[in-house]
Amino acid sequence: MAAAPQVIVVTGASSGFGRLTAVALARNGHTVAAGMRRTADRNAPAVAALHRLAAEEGLALSAVELDVRSQESADLAISTVLDRHGRLDVVVHNAGHLVLGPAEAFTAEDLAAVYDVNVLGTQRVNRAALPHLRGQGSGLLVWVGSSFTRGGHPPFLAPYFAAKAAMDALAESYAAELIRFGIGTSIVVPGTFTSGTNHFTNAGGPSDAARDKAYEKPYGELRADLADRLNRLIPPEARAESVADEIVRIVGPQRTGGRSAATLTPARTAARWSPSSPTGSAPSSTNA
Ligand SMILES: NC(=O)c1ccc[n+]([C@@H]2O[C@H](COP(=O)([O-])OP(=O)(O)OC[C@H]3O[C@@H](n4cnc5c(N)ncnc54)[C@H](OP(=O)(O)O)[C@@H]3O)[C@@H](O)[C@H]2O)c1
Repeated sequence: MAAAPQVIVVTGASSGFGRLTAVALARNGHTVAAGMRRTADRNAPAVAALHRLAAEEGLALSAVELDVRSQESADLAISTVLDRHGRLDVVVHNAGHLVLGPAEAFTAEDLAAVYDVNVLGTQRVNRAALPHLRGQGSGLLVWVGSSFTRGGHPPFLAPYFAAKAAMDALAESYAAELIRFGIGTSIVVPGTFTSGTNHFTNAGGPSDAARDKAYEKPYGELRADLADRLNRLIPPEARAESVADEIVRIVGPQRTGGRSAATLTPARTAARWSPSSPTGSAPSSTNA
């Protein structure tokens, strides 16, 4: 349990890591706004289920409309959280979208759409939240990245990896620029989880079907087997909840009095930017 409960926004909290993280943070005593798009229609059942759980367990957990592809939506979500809870301490950049297919078969517009959610989405939420965090002189950004950006790129995931690598680079630069405002940064880099999230079931593909097909002859077998190969990388005991638990650990006991302080678990955490290291030695990566 954290020394001081935090007010936290989690983006992309309708399913997967986002939902698990929102619930786990609330169960650990934090006040959580679970950001979701389309709360009035497609995600209305997810909102209802979340609010039911919050009522049953007495959690400070509620949904907030947040489509990371819209600056207006991000601005409104952050101001709603500030109106609702009077403060904001932590942003968890979790919303993301996977695409699968040969790099060449994605048009430039396809790539831009993947960047829009995975990279520009974080920028929109930062621009909405950072004036507030800078003003209070404390805060924490948690970025949900990908272990593949830290080594190893299986083929046929290029636009997604490129976007996650871009997000990672953005996070590292932000870390150096925010540290002197008392705002910490942590990048969580999960491995592959094909169950417990909608990441693979909701994966998109390229627009150019003809170019996609051109890769079938030399790569058809490999592509058909890709999900199985990725699955084989996952230890049988791996649970999507472990990512949420890791984010709870990062947010939880490390923050007192509204300022972050670095407490590292060397076996699991490479480093973490914090106000206690104002020169900023290295950005943090947590391999959950
Ligand atoms: N699962 C893995 O193997 C894995 C590994 C490493 C990193 N990650 C990262 O983990 C994060 C969460 O993914 P997940 O695995 O939990 O998959 P997921 O269950 O598909 O969750 C993705 C979430 O992002 C949301 N989202 C997509 N576009 C959005 C938008 N425009 N605005 C707001 N929310 C949006 C989805 O909402 P909707 O329901 O409305 O679509 C959903 O809630 C992503 O950043 C992903 O890149 C996943």
